[in-house]
Amino acid sequence: MSVPLTFTGRVVLVTGAGGGLGREYALAFGERGAAVVVNDLGGDIKGGGKSSAAADRVVEEIRAKGGKAVANYDSVEDGEKLIQTALDAFGRIDIVVNNAGILRDRSFARTSDLDWDLIHRVHLRGSFLVTRAAWNHMKNQKFGRIIMTSSAAGIYGNFGQANYSAAKLGLLGLANTLAIEGQKYNIHCNTIAPTAGSRLTETVMPPDLLESLKAEYVAPLVLWLCHESCQENSGLFEVGAGWIGKLRWERSLGRIVRQTNQMVTPESVRDTWSEICDFTDATKPASIQESLQTLVDVLSRVDTGITANPTSAVSITAAGTNPSAAIGHTLAEMNFTYTHMNCILYALGVGMSTKDPHHLKFLFEGHEDFSVLPTFGVIPAQSSMMGLSSVPGLDIDFTRLLHGEQYMELFKPLPTSGTLSSKATVADVLDKGSGMLILLDVHTYSGGELLCYNQFSVFIVGSGGFGGKRTSQKVMVTADPPNRAPDAVIVDETSKDQAALYRLSGDWNPLHIDPSFAAMGGFKSPILHGLCSFGFAARHVLKQYAGSDVSRFKSIKVRFVKPVYPGQSLQTEMWKEGNRVHLQCKVKETGGVVLSGAYIDLHAAADTSMSAGPPQPAGLQSDLVFAEIGRRIKDAGAELVKKVNAVFGWEITKDGKTAREWTIDLKTGSGSLHKGAYTGKADVTFTVTDEDFMEVVLGKLNPQKAFFAGKLKVRGNIMLSQKLEAILKDHAKL
Ligand code: NAI
Repeated sequence: MSVPLTFTGRVVLVTGAGGGLGREYALAFGERGAAVVVNDLGGDIKGGGKSSAAADRVVEEIRAKGGKAVANYDSVEDGEKLIQTALDAFGRIDIVVNNAGILRDRSFARTSDLDWDLIHRVHLRGSFLVTRAAWNHMKNQKFGRIIMTSSAAGIYGNFGQANYSAAKLGLLGLANTLAIEGQKYNIHCNTIAPTAGSRLTETVMPPDLLESLKAEYVAPLVLWLCHESCQENSGLFEVGAGWIGKLRWERSLGRIVRQTNQMVTPESVRDTWSEICDFTDATKPASIQESLQTLVDVLSRVDTGITANPTSAVSITAAGTNPSAAIGHTLAEMNFTYTHMNCILYALGVGMSTKDPHHLKFLFEGHEDFSVLPTFGVIPAQSSMMGLSSVPGLDIDFTRLLHGEQYMELFKPLPTSGTLSSKATVADVLDKGSGMLILLDVHTYSGGELLCYNQFSVFIVGSGGFGGKRTSQKVMVTADPPNRAPDAVIVDETSKDQAALYRLSGDWNPLHIDPSFAAMGGFKSPILHGLCSFGFAARHVLKQYAGSDVSRFKSIKVRFVKPVYPGQSLQTEMWKEGNRVHLQCKVKETGGVVLSGAYIDLHAAADTSMSAGPPQPAGLQSDLVFAEIGRRIKDAGAELVKKVNAVFGWEITKDGKTAREWTIDLKTGSGSLHKGAYTGKADVTFTVTDEDFMEVVLGKLNPQKAFFAGKLKVRGNIMLSQKLEAILKDHAKL
């Protein structure tokens, strides 16, 4: 037996409850344990007159049945007073049913200012004032249920009711926004369009119909929508005669009427009119985000070069899942044009900063080695995920889409500007029970040359169980790290604006910026893009094991496990196994794993520059000097730490490339020498060729002169170079 819905402890205000529908609601709530404020001005149907009798009668009826009720005789235009009655009598307000109403029907031409204003004042403004008065109480107690009363006349229009139709549909707009703003406080707002025999309808309905459309048939819907167990929010329902139906918006697929660099003309609208209005494959956008996404899609296609085949649709939702129709389906080719600005913006988006001198080559287009981060390869391909909406056989609810995993492989370092074209194909569709997994393969080309391959694993929660296969050979699989402590760890802070910055690279999902959208998804605030953490982790590996040399990057695979909030720190743990670097990324503050099963494959280093692992080029004269420095630090480190108290970074170049990095740490403990870049912040970093370094050490080249001649580059605290001479002189003599 199902549990009856009760309202014990709840306080309900029903406006206009002295008769008609409102009376039925008040009686029903009273019967089921709620304390009821019965509001009614007691006027006539046109808004004239005033009497306390109507409300008093209903209060008495409720009390006679053992219920709790008080009357309120104010107009809904005095919203605060109605809520105050609830607070005075029962100490709280949980539920508001905005029901009070009047009619002033006139054909449009005869509608006076007063006819218009009175209707708006009672219906729209009255509901606003009453609800606003209750809002903060509901917010503070994290519970509230609100009903707006609309009308079929508003939804469909009705002769002679221009004023009433406008106000009634205005209530729907009000409810839609309250539903969004209230969601995170457990305040739900729904709208009903009832039909029942009452004094308002007696002039428009025949008496026998009036009699049979009982108000008591409507009340059960109102009670259910107001119950704490009902999660419905932002719904619109037609209700009457014992029938309830839900309404939503439907939108035709539409048609792009603009071409790149061309204006829209009335003629292009005329000539495509039948397509604009064709409801075949119509969509049902349920939020302003979904609505806007279409426009963003169109802009990105028409303006920024991702020009789809102009006859292709913007977004289609096919009915039902039919994997065989979807697998192998190729999306319209997408073009992506970019400049150094996009590369730099991306680098900033994944946390690069001029604070780290190693990052400059990704942030400064004038840098001699200006490069684009390898993981930028996801950017030209990412809009293909939205293209999934046009795949036949897939009925995708985009609000339930999770980006599950990502594989990316580079066949060449990406150019720092150009036009790339991407071809996306649905590689497979899997039935994972709890959801549907779509593998989307995207190949990105420059001219005819393949540059990059991406596999997006997209999970649609709740769309499984269609009887499809569970596994696929097409999956680029994850790999677990070895069972030992990580070989290296890099920790990096994300900034509070990390997601705000990252989204400028083209992922405009409001989940990453809009607090109310994030709340709808169940997050406490907007979350970082998974592909942003992915970018952080990849550059950590590239720095640790490849000296940030983009030509060493081959491929990356990650599984997105948990969200990261902007401002948290990312901790990348790395394990090196040959040319494969396993990695795991955690939120440092919580220890929660955010990227798992991940790895990056590196190309073996060229003989004279990089090898797998820390750079090991042969034949550097400076190696001997550093070995000697290391020995002397062992002997006299403590004394040097006192004297120098600084961390020196060294980049020794050979044939125009960084061949070796060293860190002389004379700040921590009793001093130490490390091969490789300092994972923290070096106080000063010197870049010099192997040959010039030797000249300096051997006293043939004065460091100051080398600096002014551009032979010795110094980043950081230049004053510390004075202390350098002492170290080199006293401790590096061969
Ligand atoms: P009704 O006339 O029986 O009830 C409306 C009540 O609101 C009356 O008791 C009236 O005194 C009260 N009221 C009017 N102005 C007020 C004010 N300023 N402050 C406080 N109370 C005030 O009408 P009915 O049919 O029960 O309508 C209830 C609601 O349902 C109205 O909002 C109406 O527009 C709406 N509606 C009704 C339909 C129907 O078929 N009965 C159809 C569509 C909508």
